[in-house]
Amino acid sequence: MKNIQTITVDSKEQGAEEICNIVRGELEAGRLHVLGLATGSTMEPVYEKMVSSNLDFSDVTAFNLDEYIGIPADHENSYAYYMKKHLFSKKPFKQTYIENGMAEDLDAECVRYETLLKENPLDIQFLGIGENGHIAFNEPGTSPESVTHVVELTQSTIDVNSQYFSEDETMPTTALTMGISSIMQAKKLIVAAFGEKKRAALEKLYAGEISTEWPVTYLLDHPDVTVITDQKF
Ligand code: PGA
Repeated sequence: MKNIQTITVDSKEQGAEEICNIVRGELEAGRLHVLGLATGSTMEPVYEKMVSSNLDFSDVTAFNLDEYIGIPADHENSYAYYMKKHLFSKKPFKQTYIENGMAEDLDAECVRYETLLKENPLDIQFLGIGENGHIAFNEPGTSPESVTHVVELTQSTIDVNSQYFSEDETMPTTALTMGISSIMQAKKLIVAAFGEKKRAALEKLYAGEISTEWPVTYLLDHPDVTVITDQKF
């Protein structure tokens, strides 16, 4: 697949190293001004490597893909909290943006975020993949035309992510997410997927056919995608 470059690695840590190398190359070439970030366990070693590196993000603006609705930024399971904990408290950025899942008017919040993205075009976007093939919180069935919007999480995503919430907490079932079209605007996409559980989604991608049921396959229409994985195909 000519638009997809795959880097096969032995471990998440090696994958994180590869991602940092790409980021370093783009920074040094003066091509990285706006960086789209992702959350989840896949990205933790990436941020660890970024933090321990000498990479300088003080002139880079960051955007995050998604955020739960109804939990505040200081809640330990919010993605705002995740980003602060793993990256922003340790590496200064020029500016960081994430959707406000506590906004009173969620539709207005989506418009605000999409406008910010238009004003700050993404140079690189990091992406993880859900076991069900979602990218950000764009669940199966999401339109390729979608921009930042409110989503109902699928049972698969709730089952996977509920492990992070304690028993006496109810996990949010709705979220705000950048849409497929918002993500596809990024000049360069870096997709990280490690472990057997991501294999089915990657198989769909490498099968080369776009399907609404597997949002990751929309990436087949993007001109510059790098997949970093420990799965061999
Ligand atoms: P994970 O999540 O990194 O925790 O596997 C990825 C995703 O759901 O996009």
